[in-house]
Amino acid sequence: GKTSTFVNAANTDYAVASLRHRIEAALDNVHRQLGQTYSPIIGGERVNTLEYSDSRNPSHPQEIVGRVGVATIEDAEHAIRAAKAAQKQWQHTPVSERAAILRRAADLLEAQRHELVAWMCYEVGKVVAEGDAEVSEAVDFCRYYADEMERLSGGYDRNFPGETNHYHYQGRGIAVVISPWNFPLAIPTGMTVAALVTGNCTILKPADPAAVVAAKLAEILIAAGFPAGVFQFLPGRGAVVGPYLTQHPDVHLIAFTGSQEVGCRIIAEAARLQRGQTHIKRVIAEMGGKNAIIVDESADLDQAVAGVVHSAFGYSGQKCSACSRVIVLEAIYQPFVQRLIEATKSLNAGSAHWPSTRVGPVITAAARDRIQEYIVKGQQEADLAFSGTVPEEGYFVPPTIFTNVPPTATIAQEEIFGPVLAVLRAETFDQALEIANTTAYALTGGLYSRTPSHIQAAKDQFAVGNLYINRGITGAIVDRHPFGGFKLSGIGSKAGGRDYLLQFLEPRVITENV
Ligand code: NAD
Ligand code: ALA
Repeated sequence: GKTSTFVNAANTDYAVASLRHRIEAALDNVHRQLGQTYSPIIGGERVNTLEYSDSRNPSHPQEIVGRVGVATIEDAEHAIRAAKAAQKQWQHTPVSERAAILRRAADLLEAQRHELVAWMCYEVGKVVAEGDAEVSEAVDFCRYYADEMERLSGGYDRNFPGETNHYHYQGRGIAVVISPWNFPLAIPTGMTVAALVTGNCTILKPADPAAVVAAKLAEILIAAGFPAGVFQFLPGRGAVVGPYLTQHPDVHLIAFTGSQEVGCRIIAEAARLQRGQTHIKRVIAEMGGKNAIIVDESADLDQAVAGVVHSAFGYSGQKCSACSRVIVLEAIYQPFVQRLIEATKSLNAGSAHWPSTRVGPVITAAARDRIQEYIVKGQQEADLAFSGTVPEEGYFVPPTIFTNVPPTATIAQEEIFGPVLAVLRAETFDQALEIANTTAYALTGGLYSRTPSHIQAAKDQFAVGNLYINRGITGAIVDRHPFGGFKLSGIGSKAGGRDYLLQFLEPRVITENV
């Protein structure tokens, strides 16, 4: 295929002292701004709400990061009306102008890089290096989708004697973006700017525990130049404004990233025609994973241990891409497990903003309790081989490793979304692949091996959207690793890839007899 000339944004090199000081200053500066109030933005106006939701720092839950207005169904209806009023003009705004706004948004994100990292650190407990990579991803989404829309915008012609044919794209109409909290900047940015650059008026409904970071994104998108009604910010309860928006007859497109349960509900509800609705809604739903890494007897164990530890415990396992199962060949099972436990012991757990922290908190008290229930269940199903130590204050769950986990155990089948790793045994490589494929999900997967036939078998048979060989399985980079899964992991075409924008567009062909 054609090689890409796209250049990814660079992450910060914290080995450089001046850049370390820059993030320290940003952490102090943002800390002084905690507790402010943010409002929904509808039709270009900040609207007051009756109710406000406190977003708390999961490392120090007594700390309120911000108070965010809770939009009502009435607010959602106002947003839909404002989007309808703005739609025609936005759809006919030249692609060059739309793309220019995305590029300005990228520059603004870059200019506020360190502050955004600090906000993520305080609001969702993400450590600095991971937040920094997330800013790069958000910047990349803006620049990549701007380029992609320009690539697609001309369409193409197929002309014959007496007949011209012009194939081209137009926006679908009104888009609703519903985002998760675990990539509070990159994921809402990606879905929102994709919907906007393709000519859809877009309403962003962020996840509650990440609504302050989303409010910062909303400020940036508005400063970049998206007009009133074209981009609107609608924080609110997922179970209240969510269904109202997704069932609304005037909505054409829903871009959702989140749990499988909510995703499937949205797909079902969006399929039901409402009174007055004259179109079928398009739903893009990126959902969960139960991702496995296979380690065979030929693997470089130093590499494999480091890759598994980072993939399993980075951001406390709260990534859809995280490794939650490691399938180890019998011949190296004992030495691998021993080294895995030693490496996991060395992870510092603590507040996300401490420079030494490798494992921060989980997002909420409810998440902590749910993960603890899985740990109790795991003790009935397998051997608890390691449980780390964590601070008492904050929503912490210790990094936890279970060994001798049967492939059908609950902890080997359900997405836990926390720092819990199941180690499974396999007698043969074929059996390892079979075990890897036994879940309902197909998002990421990995293999550590130096055996060409095993690598080939994994390429052919490991049923995942993103397969990583001899490296960790998280941290997909826009354009290089277009990201997304299949089976119950979703029905979207890969974020940060060449087919992504097509989902937001309606293709048309005009044939003229000349
Ligand atoms: P979630 O499904 O609980 O919430 C996602 C969003 O849906 C939130 O904004 C929420 O308010 C909203 N929502 C809740 N109920 C709704 C309803 N009835 N109608 C409409 N919207 C509703 O997920 P989460 O806890 O925010 O995120 C974690 C999940 O996201 C995990 O399962 C993870 O695997 C998945 N995820 C997937 C990807 C991917 O690319 N495949 C990326 C990140 C996260
Ligand atoms: N795109 C994110 C990753 O690859 C989810 O980790």
